[in-house]
Amino acid sequence: MSHETIFIQTGLADKPRKSRWPARLDLLQSTTGLFLALFMWLHMFFVASILVSESAMWTIARFFEGYFFFGKAYSGLVSCVVGFVALAFVAHALLAVRKFPINYQQWRIVRAHTKQMRHEDSTLWIWQVYTGFLLFFLASAHLYQMFFWPEKIGPYLSSDRVWSENLWPFYIVMLLAVELHGGIGLYRLVVKWGWPNAPREALKKVKWALTGFFLVLGLASLAAYMKIGYEHRAYMGEPYTPDWVMEKEANADRGDGQ
Ligand code: HEM
Repeated sequence: MSHETIFIQTGLADKPRKSRWPARLDLLQSTTGLFLALFMWLHMFFVASILVSESAMWTIARFFEGYFFFGKAYSGLVSCVVGFVALAFVAHALLAVRKFPINYQQWRIVRAHTKQMRHEDSTLWIWQVYTGFLLFFLASAHLYQMFFWPEKIGPYLSSDRVWSENLWPFYIVMLLAVELHGGIGLYRLVVKWGWPNAPREALKKVKWALTGFFLVLGLASLAAYMKIGYEHRAYMGEPYTPDWVMEKEANADRGDGQ
């Protein structure tokens, strides 16, 4: 069938001008998705610093507040980063809703692909829709908290939030949703743009390996925050201060007194 016949049969030939916008919006959806997925990998490593030590997590948290550049922590810097991530998140979500099945007819088509045809990529796609929908709520709540209270990020304050403020069930659900969503999203991006060019079966194996790795890393980190939070429950709200900072502050006080 020629291109011309296809255009006539789909009704596209009647249009005075073919719009480039759907393609542009698709590209923007892919770019914001890629950015968020890469950000998420880094984020998981930063959060996992608690597995190294409390001092390692404290150092990373203060690093993003500019402590090692300015000699003082400016938590507003973290809010700026959160604001940027939130913008990418909102743009990505807005562009994604275009693809959600919106009526019974569309749901029946999806179900025909997933149940009757057992088309695995369609099943992955529908899971991306479910987890994406969950993330609308969960990630928004998390970003809201990180934006307004960035100074409450640290080995003890984060652990208090996870344990004493009972946020661990919330984090378990969000971790599952975000790792499934990001893994499927990256797989679909690679298949869509054809880079790296590899058989789908091989790509799927890599995808599941990455999802498994980040799930284990996330669950291990969460367990560490829960353990520290449990042990710190009597001192809830007291931040962690490394020994060298306490010494520095004590020396500064002594210096002031002279
Ligand atoms: C710049 C923005 C962000 C910052 C500063 C941030 C910071 C943090 C911090 C400090 C924790 C440790 C727990 C706590 O303190 O409450 C955490 C955990 C977590 N965050 Fe974020 N986050 C950001 C964005 C996101 C986004 C967009 C998602 C994706 C939906 C996300 C998903 C998670 C998950 C799943 C956990 C639990 C990690 C685990 O189980 O190890 N975060 N985040």
